[in-house]
Amino acid sequence: MYKQIFNLNKETAVITGAGSGIGREAALILAEYGAKVVLLDINEENVFKTANQINKDLGGNCAEAIIADVSKEEDVAEAVGKIVDKYEHVNTLINNAGVMKQGPFEKLTLTEWKAIMDINLNSAFLMSSYIGKHMIEQNNGKIINMASISSVVANRESQSAYNVSKAGIHMLTKCLAVEWAKYNIRVNSIAPGYTKTGMTKNLSNDSTTESNKKLLQNIPMNRISHPSEIAGMILHLASEASSYSTGGIYSVDGGYLAY
Ligand SMILES: NC(=O)c1ccc[n+]([C@@H]2O[C@H](COP(=O)([O-])OP(=O)(O)OC[C@H]3O[C@@H](n4cnc5c(N)ncnc54)[C@H](O)[C@@H]3O)[C@@H](O)[C@H]2O)c1
Repeated sequence: MYKQIFNLNKETAVITGAGSGIGREAALILAEYGAKVVLLDINEENVFKTANQINKDLGGNCAEAIIADVSKEEDVAEAVGKIVDKYEHVNTLINNAGVMKQGPFEKLTLTEWKAIMDINLNSAFLMSSYIGKHMIEQNNGKIINMASISSVVANRESQSAYNVSKAGIHMLTKCLAVEWAKYNIRVNSIAPGYTKTGMTKNLSNDSTTESNKKLLQNIPMNRISHPSEIAGMILHLASEASSYSTGGIYSVDGGYLAY
């Protein structure tokens, strides 16, 4: 009875920031479980490389790459128009694209602040708005927002704009979950802990350096994660396994938030 619970055959998933890191793993796992995946990214080389890899590994044409800056409404409108025309249904949207900037608040300019909000938070507004209309029409959908442990804690590092954008993602998740439950659209977010990706090139599990040692001490499991370790939660939230879950924030953080 439960063996098909993760089956995504006949489903289409759209993933932003899918050329690298966690978004890339999301595309890989959802495609492996049968979904057609549409990968959006601003990085042309990475997004085509990822889509080609999936098509090569799985055979056929289950992955498509689209170059788009998801913080820009014109790019979102064009990309979503193409996707909705081509695919009968869009079942899952993963708002994953993001950037991070560290530095003391007093040195942060309004331009830098706005740029982070545009990419991390406003892109989720735009994508949810454009794809959400389609999901409302089909009376079905799943939205997964990539939040962070930084949605709920201020971290030791100074990264206020990033953290505020992620707190916004957290609340957007709850608001959409409440408003769109009547349309059979489930909205959840994932809060990864420190994960080795393009965004966190300097992180490692080497505790001989002072900065890594401090960081690892804050993680009960005493290690950072590989992006593939976030993929299982993505599959869970994109599949029938989570059919009664909406409005939740699911941490995958080695125990960080438990401290
Ligand atoms: N790595 C971590 O430790 C960590 C922890 C918590 C949350 N997250 C979140 O996970 C998500 C994925 O990040 P990652 O760690 O995989 O980083 P990453 O840098 O490896 O991937 C981010 C991707 O987003 C793309 N992107 C950036 N701006 C874009 C835009 N305007 N339009 C389209 N694509 C854009 C990049 O080109 C890149 O491919 C982000 O939202 C990030 O905040 C990461």
